[in-house]
Amino acid sequence: MTYQVRPLEPGDQRLAWELGSLAFGYHERPVPEGWTSDSSGRRTLGVFDPAGRLVAKAVDREQGQWFGGRIVPTCGVAGVATAAEVRGRGLGRLVLTELLRGARDRGAVISTLFDTTPGPYRALGWEEVGALVDHTVRTRVLAEIRPDATTTLRPATEADIPAVEDVYREVARAGTGMMERTGPTFDITAAQLLADYDGFTVAVDDTGTVVGYAAWNRGPGYDAGGRLLVDELIGLTPGATRTLLAMVGGWASVAPTVVIRLGTADPVWSLLGRADATPESTQPWMLRVVDAAGAVAARGWPRHLTGEVDLELTDDVCPWHQGRHRLVLSGGTGRLEPGGVGTVRLTPRGLAAWYAGAATPHQLRRSGFLTGGDAGTDEVLSAATAGPAPTLHDYF
Ligand SMILES: CC(C)(COP(=O)(O)OP(=O)(O)OC[C@H]1O[C@@H](n2cnc3c(N)ncnc32)[C@H](O)[C@@H]1OP(=O)(O)O)[C@@H](O)C(=O)NCCC(=O)NCCS
Repeated sequence: MTYQVRPLEPGDQRLAWELGSLAFGYHERPVPEGWTSDSSGRRTLGVFDPAGRLVAKAVDREQGQWFGGRIVPTCGVAGVATAAEVRGRGLGRLVLTELLRGARDRGAVISTLFDTTPGPYRALGWEEVGALVDHTVRTRVLAEIRPDATTTLRPATEADIPAVEDVYREVARAGTGMMERTGPTFDITAAQLLADYDGFTVAVDDTGTVVGYAAWNRGPGYDAGGRLLVDELIGLTPGATRTLLAMVGGWASVAPTVVIRLGTADPVWSLLGRADATPESTQPWMLRVVDAAGAVAARGWPRHLTGEVDLELTDDVCPWHQGRHRLVLSGGTGRLEPGGVGTVRLTPRGLAAWYAGAATPHQLRRSGFLTGGDAGTDEVLSAATAGPAPTLHDYF
């Protein structure tokens, strides 16, 4: 059968709703008035059968994620679905391969996505590099934390949001993989952001500077089922982290359970025992390199590392970067030059995990994603992407 792959047109939007809502289980809901899969920064690619039926689709979200202190242009993949009757026949591969080609044409150099199952994405070169984890904690455990005497809390106003964004960005810049919350897919006003939460609390130090915040919702009831849902709690100072957590602990009598989203290396863990937190939901995310030369040029690298490694990339889904390249790192920047002798061979999944700093060359060799090289190349490659564990706070 011959399929047509093309961007959705205005007349296709209802078909996209039907395919997506059935796949993700919200098909009972009517199509919202004026709904469209393509909004600012979102492009939907569809696969149509000869009868004009939409049989597969995927969305490219224009976003940026922080690696090594720089924002890397990213294709965030969402809304991937194939019609039930034709799954397992290569349509997911078709739409995602074309999506990657289009993403590269618009300047994306990596791609990330939240996978419901890794299989189809691994087959196409994405690899799991992190997970968004909401933890359940008994509120009483947090009630033991005492607030800091020099940090005060108050509800945020719209005027605080730029300072809140600066707090987030300081953490994102120092992290690995965190979302840059600007651009077309983050078109939200301060008023909308505040309206999304029952509580948006800022922590202020004794100079009046916003040094942390927490965004939270109060679940129903005040019996054993009462919960406080903390979407984000960021403290730039020990006092901010401690005081915000103490506030959360203050809900112990009416909300015995807290659900809090935390990265693996969050400073909150310095006040909370790992055994006191149980993962309630774990949403893994994956990364793929879309344009190796562009991806190397876009991210930041350790300023004190100088080195070169000859790479050979295999990649039949993004064939434009297949072959031999020399990785040259110096003074915090990196580039891939064509050529070299291909000492270290990387599969797409190996390249993804290495780029994100999610696995060392030694681990990749043991997984079969890297071959060749020696202790010297391993040392350069591992130092190059060593850093905080890949962490995202945003689901998309
Ligand atoms: C996930 C989904 C989009 C895959 O689409 P599809 O058209 O069935 O995928 P394809 O037939 O093109 O398969 C692509 C590759 O993934 C592999 N694959 C597909 N489903 C798989 C699974 N469940 N487990 C492991 N591998 C799988 C295929 O073997 C194929 O690899 P290959 O080309 O190397 O043989 C489809 O199953 C679906 O719509 N599922 C329900 C919605 C959903 O889960 N969406 C994903 C949200 S993240």
